[in-house]
Amino acid sequence: MTQNTTSPKLNLSVNETLLAAFDGPIPRHVAIIMDGNGRWATSRGMNRLRGHHEGANAVRRTVESCRYLGVEVLTIYAFSSQNWQRPVDEVSGLMTLFDLYIKKERKLLMDNNVAIRIIGDRTRLSDKLQAAIVQLEEATAPGAKMVLQVAVSYGGREEILGATRALCARVEAGEFKASDVDEALFSSHLYTAGQPDPDLVIRTSGEFRISNFLLWQLAYAEIYVTDVLWPDFDEAHLLEAFGSFGRRERRFGLTGAQVKA
Ligand code: IPE
Ligand code: IPE
Ligand code: MG
Repeated sequence: MTQNTTSPKLNLSVNETLLAAFDGPIPRHVAIIMDGNGRWATSRGMNRLRGHHEGANAVRRTVESCRYLGVEVLTIYAFSSQNWQRPVDEVSGLMTLFDLYIKKERKLLMDNNVAIRIIGDRTRLSDKLQAAIVQLEEATAPGAKMVLQVAVSYGGREEILGATRALCARVEAGEFKASDVDEALFSSHLYTAGQPDPDLVIRTSGEFRISNFLLWQLAYAEIYVTDVLWPDFDEAHLLEAFGSFGRRERRFGLTGAQVKA
């Protein structure tokens, strides 16, 4: 856990007074399943894509708030491997939105020292989008104070299978023995290599499921579910989640007495 450290140099548009008043522990790594964009839109008689566009504003608020509060890694689930099976116009609308996000948020990310990394099977994205991603990743990497991992075309099972294939290939090539594969070596073959595991996973829209997100990495994450739909998620909701996180006793398999000792 990190302390609530703030920097006067940040260029943010969130409610800093509200955030500054929070005195609980800040999770190092926060993961979010941003769900409910479609329901947000359809309940207002709008096209689902309008919900995704509003969701992008909630992403901006959340990135800014996490950066302000001193979160080290924020991982957001934007598009799953299974989401490719949605209607073609929704999929193409989402791809256009990613492209727009990359262009629009570049300055904000750079001004606030947020490094972006896309995790997932990027080979399924268009060549143009892949090139824009590489460019943004390289531009935002130097001097990063927070890492923003965006899961796009991401599936936890797919990620684990990919790591397993890569490890098997290295065993076949004689680089090491199957018995040398431990948790550290396995983790280093995941998209999230080098990052700590999430401490807190938030899911919006009231669904109590993981939906193929970070299956390996969430082993000991604290789970927080809110009924708020993702486009409505704001600073206050984030602080509610952090407050709940601060009241948990994380035991990692030990007894409560062991943890206190
Ligand atoms: C989450 O919102 C965003 C993506 C999965 C791309 P949904 O689009 O799943 O919204 P609901 O769950 O249908 O309301
Ligand atoms: C999970 O939401 C994926 C993202 C938030 C990107 P879904 O809406 O795809 O999940 P299910 O279908 O309700 O499990
Ligand atoms: Mg959904």
